[in-house]
Amino acid sequence: MIIGLHREFTLMVRALEKGIPVILEGEAGTGKTEMAKEAAKLLKRPLHRVDGDQELSSLKIQGWFDPPMVLSKGYSWDSFLPGPLSQAMTEGGIFFFNEVNRAPSETINAVLTALDERLVTIPRLGMITAEPAFGCVFTCNPLDRVGTNPLPQAFFDRCVWLRLDHLPLEQAMEVVHLRTGEEDRNLVRVMCQITEGSRRHPDVVKGGSIRAAIFMVKLASSVRLQGEDPCGEVVLKEIAKSALTKKIRLRYNSELTEEQVVEDVVDRVLGISSEKKKTA
Ligand SMILES: Nc1ncnc2c1ncn2[C@@H]1O[C@H](COP(=O)(O)OP(=O)(O)OP(=O)(O)O)[C@@H](O)[C@H]1O
Ligand SMILES: [Mg+2]
Repeated sequence: MIIGLHREFTLMVRALEKGIPVILEGEAGTGKTEMAKEAAKLLKRPLHRVDGDQELSSLKIQGWFDPPMVLSKGYSWDSFLPGPLSQAMTEGGIFFFNEVNRAPSETINAVLTALDERLVTIPRLGMITAEPAFGCVFTCNPLDRVGTNPLPQAFFDRCVWLRLDHLPLEQAMEVVHLRTGEEDRNLVRVMCQITEGSRRHPDVVKGGSIRAAIFMVKLASSVRLQGEDPCGEVVLKEIAKSALTKKIRLRYNSELTEEQVVEDVVDRVLGISSEKKKTA
């Protein structure tokens, strides 16, 4: 189930219905994977997924030959093991290429013919032509700079592009409630405010995502089971630091540590001013 993102989801489904590839660009936790899974479900098409990394070769997405089968049957369709792209093309499914900008350019180029001509060429065998229902969804994260390759213009030229932002507070709370089953709205609100606050903090260039809020609510629920107040300052800071410290990135000239920033965010959410802290 998708919360919010109505315009983006509708556009994405329309594009897939018309055979237009979609690229979803958004920071971690903005719902890219969820949108792709939900669209495949709505359109009743199988989703074939691959995750981009430096080792991902075009063979892994198109398919490869099974050596023992090649020995017995030679290079034939029987000895060919289709990769996720070929499977999606022949089944009329959705090819979901996650973090496409982490893949080598050679692999991205190998996908281009599938995007507009809707075919791939398998060496020694011939061509695979896509069924009409075949569709493609790509994702990338604009803050991901290490180990990524810029996507070629030819790639953007063949796709429609949709940007996903972090959800506003009320919708983020709905997602966290949906994923954790937590009924205490105040608890859910506090954790979503802390996550949002980590993105807005002046020293932060990359804040936490909704996943951090989901983790914090789960941890808080188990703290409450032990009879403690999860929204008490000390406990809340402990939970927030465990969920956020390693997920945030600070300005290069920040004088604070990640842990201090998380504590500061919690103070702001709890309404503890620096004046009060000094006098305490
Ligand atoms: N709009 C939404 N509606 C419902 N659930 C959502 C929504 N956005 C995020 N989620 C939930 O939040 C979590 C993270 O979402 P998702 O995995 O789709 O993010 P992502 O953009 O693919 O992140 P990443 O770039 O890290 O892969 C999941 O549990 C997902 O179900
Ligand atoms: Mg994802």
